[in-house]
Amino acid sequence: MGNLWLIGMMGSGKSTVGRRIAATTCRGFMDVDSMVEERTGKSLASVFDEQGEAAFREMEGAEIRRLSDESAPGGPGRVIATGGGVVLDPAAVDAMRRSGVVAWLDAPAAVLAGRTKGAGRPLLDGTDVASRLAEILAGRHSLYQQAAHYRIDADRPVDAVVSEVAGCARVAVGDGSEVLIGPSLPHRLLPASSGREQVVIICQPGSRPVAGSVLEILGSEVEATLIEVPDRDEAKSIETLALLYRRLAELNLGRHDTIVGVGGGAVTDLAGFGAATWLRGIESILVPTTLLGAVDASIGGKTGINVMGKNLVGCFWHPSRVVISIDVLSRLPEPLLLEGSAEAVKAGLIADPALVDLFMEHGSAFPMAEVVSRAVAVKAEVVSEDFRETGRRVILNFGHTLGHGIEVVCGLSHGHAVAVGMVAAAAISADRLGFDEARVRVPLERLGLPTCIDTAIPEAILRLVQRDKKRTASGLRMVLLREIGDPVVEYVDEPALRLGLAAVGIAG
Ligand SMILES: NC(=O)c1ccc[n+]([C@@H]2O[C@H](COP(=O)([O-])OP(=O)(O)OC[C@H]3O[C@@H](n4cnc5c(N)ncnc54)[C@H](O)[C@@H]3O)[C@@H](O)[C@H]2O)c1
Ligand SMILES: [Zn+2]
Repeated sequence: MGNLWLIGMMGSGKSTVGRRIAATTCRGFMDVDSMVEERTGKSLASVFDEQGEAAFREMEGAEIRRLSDESAPGGPGRVIATGGGVVLDPAAVDAMRRSGVVAWLDAPAAVLAGRTKGAGRPLLDGTDVASRLAEILAGRHSLYQQAAHYRIDADRPVDAVVSEVAGCARVAVGDGSEVLIGPSLPHRLLPASSGREQVVIICQPGSRPVAGSVLEILGSEVEATLIEVPDRDEAKSIETLALLYRRLAELNLGRHDTIVGVGGGAVTDLAGFGAATWLRGIESILVPTTLLGAVDASIGGKTGINVMGKNLVGCFWHPSRVVISIDVLSRLPEPLLLEGSAEAVKAGLIADPALVDLFMEHGSAFPMAEVVSRAVAVKAEVVSEDFRETGRRVILNFGHTLGHGIEVVCGLSHGHAVAVGMVAAAAISADRLGFDEARVRVPLERLGLPTCIDTAIPEAILRLVQRDKKRTASGLRMVLLREIGDPVVEYVDEPALRLGLAAVGIAG
């Protein structure tokens, strides 16, 4: 998940907040100032006095680059407090942003002065601390703004600051794209120095309020236009795509411009496909506003529209950025929450037992920030290894082989059908591999997802599943579980499929 870097003026609470987060999330804590002191065997004030600020910045930058290089992709990362002037060094800023998320603890100079004694602080002479701090802050304000992914109001009780900062994360997806997860939307959405002239924001009826906020943020950066498309999969029709192209042409959207998709999977699929095909491919940024969009549809670069059949036309096109606001997801209506939960449980079942434990412990009141960052990390890790779905990515289909048949034949929503499909796959895993199927069923039950449906028509499902695109000459391949977090892909025959279906009440 990368490092959590804390930047901000002296007195903003970086060390206090950082230590607290590190302790509660079992991550290591580092303080760059202390690292320089340890390395030189001198206090910061002596380093400044004897060697000067430039020498200090050089040592500080070296420590930061080392910590960035040490950060293992996919590892838990550290919580790192930096010195107030770190933003003066562009290379250090770059290293921080590459290896994690940068949170800026911002507070007015008067508040900082109240918390700072001045003693031992190299840049404060102790005479008029407040005005000196105001002067330094004014000089650095725009640098903090550019360096940080998230600005956090630090003029609040420490508990509030801790809980907000702890929700900030950055997950790298192997091809250079990144997923930013934060309590709210970041204060800037475009990568720095992008050189873009305009962005087109696409939304759907349910994501319009979020798209309004996105428009406000982007509108302060470049020229931004909002386009609302029809709801749900009507957004992915060839007619909507044609209308979208017409608008892009009217707006004269150029090669260096950006398409931003704000909404559920239908919008992010359309926005991604539009970006992939406009002028042979322009940049896209995705802001998923449903849980399914956040943990599944927006991650991994698959785009698609519905022509003749669902998702029959599409391509792989990786967004430069995916931006997830936990605040938006926490306010989702129950049915949309459940839809996405099924995919989050799936992520846990195939690769992260601790994620499954969260659902066991909390049911539908699960901690959103932790669930989302864990589920995103699983999908990012799997797709990073297999961008074009030729190998490991197949494990993401856990529960989907029978689930898809159940969705079509029984008319269940995708999330509900996948939940039932996962229980069926667990039953086959129990029969073949001695897996305990309750380990899949119970977390789904805790969430309130269906795990059994009564219908007497396995034949229609079997016919559909055996025509499935994952079938090869030697039979149907299906993802099974040896254990939670230990998936295997095995060929299954019709009796095994019938056994799985019977376990979820589908027997004829
Ligand atoms: N590309 C992929 O890898 C991938 C993976 C899974 C699913 N998908 C696609 O995703 C789509 C399903 O995604 P979805 O479930 O997000 O559906 P969706 O985009 O159709 O959205 C579902 C509903 O939620 C509403 N909505 C969106 N944000 C909201 C918010 N913040 N508050 C309230 N309502 C809101 C929408 O208006 C819509 O009515 C399908 O088209 C599917 O094919 C793609
Ligand atoms: Zn799915």
